[in-house]
Amino acid sequence: MHHFDLIAGTLHAEGVSLETLATAVGTPAYVYSSATLRRHYGLLRDAANAWPDALGEALIAYAVKANSNLSVLATLARLGCGADTVSEGEIRRALTAGIPAQRIIFSGVGKTDSELAFAIDVGVRQINIESAVELDRLIAVAEARSANPAIAIRVNPRIGAGGHAKITTGGDTDKFGVPVEEALALYARAAESPHVTPVGLACHIGSQITTLEPLEAAFRVLREMTLTLRARGLTVSRLDLGGGLGVPYSGAATVPPSPADYVAMAARVLDGLGVEAAFEPGRLLAANAGVLLSRVIQVNERSDGRRFLVLDAAMNDLLRPALYDAEHELLPVRPRAGDSRPYDVVGPVCETGDTFARDQPLPPLQAGDLVVFMGAGAYGAVMAGEYNSRPLVPEVLVDGDRWAVVRVRPTYDEMLAREPRADWL
Ligand code: LLP
Repeated sequence: MHHFDLIAGTLHAEGVSLETLATAVGTPAYVYSSATLRRHYGLLRDAANAWPDALGEALIAYAVKANSNLSVLATLARLGCGADTVSEGEIRRALTAGIPAQRIIFSGVGKTDSELAFAIDVGVRQINIESAVELDRLIAVAEARSANPAIAIRVNPRIGAGGHAKITTGGDTDKFGVPVEEALALYARAAESPHVTPVGLACHIGSQITTLEPLEAAFRVLREMTLTLRARGLTVSRLDLGGGLGVPYSGAATVPPSPADYVAMAARVLDGLGVEAAFEPGRLLAANAGVLLSRVIQVNERSDGRRFLVLDAAMNDLLRPALYDAEHELLPVRPRAGDSRPYDVVGPVCETGDTFARDQPLPPLQAGDLVVFMGAGAYGAVMAGEYNSRPLVPEVLVDGDRWAVVRVRPTYDEMLAREPRADWL
């Protein structure tokens, strides 16, 4: 579900024409819909509120890594959303956007001592510990500050899932979390320290998961572990269920379960434990709230019959197709009449990897036409770079008839000025 629709033959983001935006901001550019962000958050919030007994006062901690734009975060912050963060930079963004520290979870497999100290100092809700060695470091950092942060132990349940091997995190060879037995021992060890307070368990088994079975199996592991820890006299009051629920990318064959079914499943598994649940959705909130707007530079009709649609957006702007073979539906902003023909959709970067799609049937397109990649609101702009010295792609937020540039495209002068010349050159 999203708010990008044709109005009088032209694709709009809510009430704003994408042609207007392309003229005003230039292309390529990311365009986000506030209404879609609000809708997705609302669906999940309502679903979680429906199960107060099983999920407690559930926290929805948006995974900032999916789209960390300050205005996107501020839109969610105003709805009461929390944040799942994996670096000091993300914590700073969440705080700057108005998300209270008490709704911020700090996760990640390699937090530095100074990041841990920062998280303690600002008073995040919980630090998710991912290894024995990290627990030792946190205890030392907390002791030096006479602090006692709340922690959860991230379990690796040996259940990996997700849309691609590179985004599967719960498998036994993946770098994330601690195996079950070790996690139980670590929890007990943490409980003995006066410098940390273990409050719960966490897991996150992968991303773009399109069936409930692996998620349910992982939540059952957390449930069993909770009972085991309690039988050993330990307190477990929170379960952090991670993110990972897939989204219906338009045109994709698999339709993932709805947020309501996902949350109902979690409520079933956690029923009777009396814990407070946390969800860490990233893609679910942001993916379909954004498009990448691009202009056709030219159509190369080669003598061997291949037809290349060359766009001004490239892999440096939207990396997912090159990195994960991801498919993002391409739509013309003002569709022309005529039969569809197959195109290879490519960007200008000097690599064959800079190919968005092969033999994609598309309606007639010409140089100068505008197109959008759908479902690009999550893991799009955040993964963009300046490869081939292409300026970092700007971002625009739409809200009804209003719009604002929420990340500015750097000028070439600004890009060059970031690189001071070595004084011997
Ligand atoms: N929690 C933790 C601890 C995570 O590592 C992640 C994502 C999430 C929550 C949010 O997962 P989501 O709900 O968005 O599936 N760049 C990749 C996705 C990487 C996901 C990494 N972890 C992509 O473009 O598909």
